[in-house]
Amino acid sequence: MQKILVAEDSELNRELLYEILKEEYEVKLAGDGGQALEYLGAYAQETAAVLLDLHMPRMDGFAVLAEMKKNEWIGKIPVLVISSEFAVEVENQCFELGVSDFIHKPFELSIVKNRVRNAIELFTCKNQLEQKVEEQAQKLEKQYEIIQKQAEKLRVAKPFNRLMTEFSSAIMEVETKLKVLNAEFSQEYNRNPFESIKTRLKSPESISEKLERRGFPSTVESIQENLTDVAGVRVICSFPDDIYRLADLLTGQDDIILIRKKDYIKNPKPNGYRSLHLILSVPIFLSNEKKYMNVEVQFRTIAMDFWASLEHKLKYKKNVNDTDEIVEQLRVCADSIEELDYQMQEIRNRIDRSRG
Ligand code: GTP
Ligand code: MG
Repeated sequence: MQKILVAEDSELNRELLYEILKEEYEVKLAGDGGQALEYLGAYAQETAAVLLDLHMPRMDGFAVLAEMKKNEWIGKIPVLVISSEFAVEVENQCFELGVSDFIHKPFELSIVKNRVRNAIELFTCKNQLEQKVEEQAQKLEKQYEIIQKQAEKLRVAKPFNRLMTEFSSAIMEVETKLKVLNAEFSQEYNRNPFESIKTRLKSPESISEKLERRGFPSTVESIQENLTDVAGVRVICSFPDDIYRLADLLTGQDDIILIRKKDYIKNPKPNGYRSLHLILSVPIFLSNEKKYMNVEVQFRTIAMDFWASLEHKLKYKKNVNDTDEIVEQLRVCADSIEELDYQMQEIRNRIDRSRG
């Protein structure tokens, strides 16, 4: 049986409440605020609810509430004020002090029972949820520490640094291939198939985090076997058709192997994300060997890139208000962007045609 405390100076009311609640709870009685606090000082942890009268001699209900707040019991134990007070200001004042509910005198048996039961159920759920959140936060903190340690270990390991140099070399190879295509295009057709290239090497922290998340060991061999996005190249194009032309030209080169293709332009993600992703295996030539390295190449238009960077912000920002609304707004924007991209492409085609 859960324990509840009834703090009430009138003996008649105390007895009445005791009779109403004794079947469901172990009811403890206090005749004034001082006695109530004395009891809570010893048994707050085990108390499921407090029924508190406002007007009591020596120490009244407000003083009890203030003390409960100081001890952080309010928020953990539901307090139901029992009073013949009907003034709105008084009720509001009580709610501001953290009171859960109001029960007016004279008592109605079933109302008292239901209100107490509801308040206890609500607080039990709330307390359990808070505990789960706390446990989860601790788990995350621990995981973060592990990842930091693993990343630090990688950072100082020679084979890891060698592997990272190899991935950077693969990035350079892909970048050069794209630049060669760009030079050829501007010579032949007087236009550039892409606007800019961004490259990035995954950080030791991101590498450890991804390996940990996917249940792989944090070793140099495991990085090579399990991760395909350590080396990243992002190609920003003006028009959608440039994306496909460039991707075809790149994958058509006889030293490049296409490992995987994900076309989020033809099949956008539910959030509206659009890009063409290729995982390529690219040879690099070292002093004593030729080695194939994985590189993730993402192609998108300028407008899609603008969208993706804004959407990325939402993903990594905590406590953003109106998230659902923003997600929907972003999805609508992504659709408009696609329409605009194709309209711009059409205009370019018309200009090209009219040039003859
Ligand atoms: P990751 O584990 O995140 O790399 O996903 P994945 O291995 O399933 O690969 P996918 O091809 O779906 O995504 C690869 C990368 O594309 C991501 O790491 C992001 O950089 C980018 N990306 C994918 N989806 C989204 C998205 O919805 N929004 C944004 N902004 N970027 C995305
Ligand atoms: Mg990735």
